[in-house]
Amino acid sequence: MKLVVGLAGASGSIYAARFLRALSEIPGDTYFTVSPASLRIFSEEYETKVSNAEDVLDFIQQRWKPETKHKFHIRDFFDIGSDIASGSNSWDAMVVVPCSMKTVASINAGFTENLIERAADVSLKERRRLIVVPRETPYNRIHLRNMLSLDEAGGIIVPASPGFYQMPKSLDDLGDFIAGRIFNLLGVESELFPKWDPKK
Ligand SMILES: Cc1cc2nc3c(=O)[nH]c(=O)nc-3n(C[C@H](O)[C@H](O)[C@H](O)COP(=O)(O)O)c2cc1C
Repeated sequence: MKLVVGLAGASGSIYAARFLRALSEIPGDTYFTVSPASLRIFSEEYETKVSNAEDVLDFIQQRWKPETKHKFHIRDFFDIGSDIASGSNSWDAMVVVPCSMKTVASINAGFTENLIERAADVSLKERRRLIVVPRETPYNRIHLRNMLSLDEAGGIIVPASPGFYQMPKSLDDLGDFIAGRIFNLLGVESELFPKWDPKK
């Protein structure tokens, strides 16, 4: 499995962190890029200081000590000449988690000013799976229109709305619910949340 994963500046660093933790344990390759806003929010939400993509991966390694089977290849958010800025390089899917309304709007408009926006644009034009995990509340009509339009363009919207029917015991369980849904869409089996059993 070859992925592109981007962290954009929305609240919900836990969704990125729990997804990356689980991804670390799966063989494969990920091109990884983070926006400055995502680093600021990650730092605030985890009461830490992450200054770059490497810091984010180190934080996850130190906090949960996942068995590392995955290779992460860090790419500069501002390098619009990166390999993943071009459709001539291939990947199976791209995940933007979490995703700000600004990045949803940019991808929807085809306005690609940074590497997340450009790789997402490439994913759509090359008909590769693009999974976007937006977070905002409440939504205005611009947000709603952009998300509908992005879905119509082939993107998959996975709202950062964890379910509660499986009785989460911790914040990590809520993060894993969304991480598990992303894995479902990537076609990867995971044990991140219990399957619904109506007989229970
Ligand atoms: C603490 C903090 C929390 C934020 N939370 C959100 C959010 O949940 N959703 C959102 O759309 N924007 C949020 N923003 C605003 C975005 O970070 C801002 O629009 C930024 O320009 C997004 O850039 P990026 O998508 O390139 O990372 C937040 C900003 C800060 C500082």
